[in-house]
Amino acid sequence: MTSPHNLEGKHALVTGASSGLGRQFALTLAQAGAKVTVAARRTERLEALAAEIAAFDGRALPVRMDVTDVASIQEAIHVAETELGPLDILVNNSGVSAQCRAENVTEEDFDYVMDTNGKGAFFVAQAVGQSMIRHGQGGKIINIASVAASRVLKQSVTYCMSKAAVAHMTRALADEWGRYKIQVNCLNPGYIVTELNRDYWETESGKRLTSKLPGRRVGNPADLDGALLLLAGAGSDFMTGSVIAVDDGMTAQGF
Ligand SMILES: NC(=O)c1ccc[n+]([C@@H]2O[C@H](COP(=O)([O-])OP(=O)(O)OC[C@H]3O[C@@H](n4cnc5c(N)ncnc54)[C@H](OP(=O)(O)O)[C@@H]3O)[C@@H](O)[C@H]2O)c1
Repeated sequence: MTSPHNLEGKHALVTGASSGLGRQFALTLAQAGAKVTVAARRTERLEALAAEIAAFDGRALPVRMDVTDVASIQEAIHVAETELGPLDILVNNSGVSAQCRAENVTEEDFDYVMDTNGKGAFFVAQAVGQSMIRHGQGGKIINIASVAASRVLKQSVTYCMSKAAVAHMTRALADEWGRYKIQVNCLNPGYIVTELNRDYWETESGKRLTSKLPGRRVGNPADLDGALLLLAGAGSDFMTGSVIAVDDGMTAQGF
């Protein structure tokens, strides 16, 4: 029996692969046998990641992509598909965060978060969805939202709004693209140590917050591997429009 986690012959695009969760997602998909296009703006980091993947005989293609620029998204996908063939899997992961009290958020602050997390996620999904529809082989779109899509994180109104938009976008795209056998699902990670937040967890405030979490710990990027492989492989062929929390109980937490 073939493992539902076997991704041999599949081509996956991971956005935001230059650090943190995206880097881990790319390594995990490549280890499962997928060819992986790794996209972000910091191409030197993507090249180092591609070399790391090549070292275990995986195949990875680094491409520059700025998700706030629709032309850049389209160009990167064109390069990816010319080199490695039609896309089967998208991990729509690029994102930025910002902490600010609601009364102090400027238009610039708002656009910074929404342009990347909201508009960027939509136009990446759209470009990959268009390609999957054109090729007629279906596919898997995995949007990376956050626990912030379902519950409020303090002083993060724009981030919470942007991630709630990604979760609901997932349901809307699942509804429209089911007929094309494109499964669109969403992962809501809880707190995971990455460059986005590494310094914070070392502060007194970070330690206090950790002590209040249900499991009294923050996660590591590899804690998302199981859910990622489920959503990328055949095990999720009858799942679409699902928003899955992988958060060690944060969404369920009582107070
Ligand atoms: N870490 C957590 O606790 C956590 C929890 C829940 C959800 N998330 C979500 O998981 C995703 C990854 O976060 P992370 O923790 O891994 O953060 P990270 O280490 O800061 O990585 C963010 C990634 O997004 C990319 N990115 C940012 N702006 C971009 C743009 N305009 N165009 C293309 N790529 C862009 C960055 O690449 P370049 O700068 O090289 O372009 C980087 O690779 C984000 O969507 C985040 O909201 C994280």
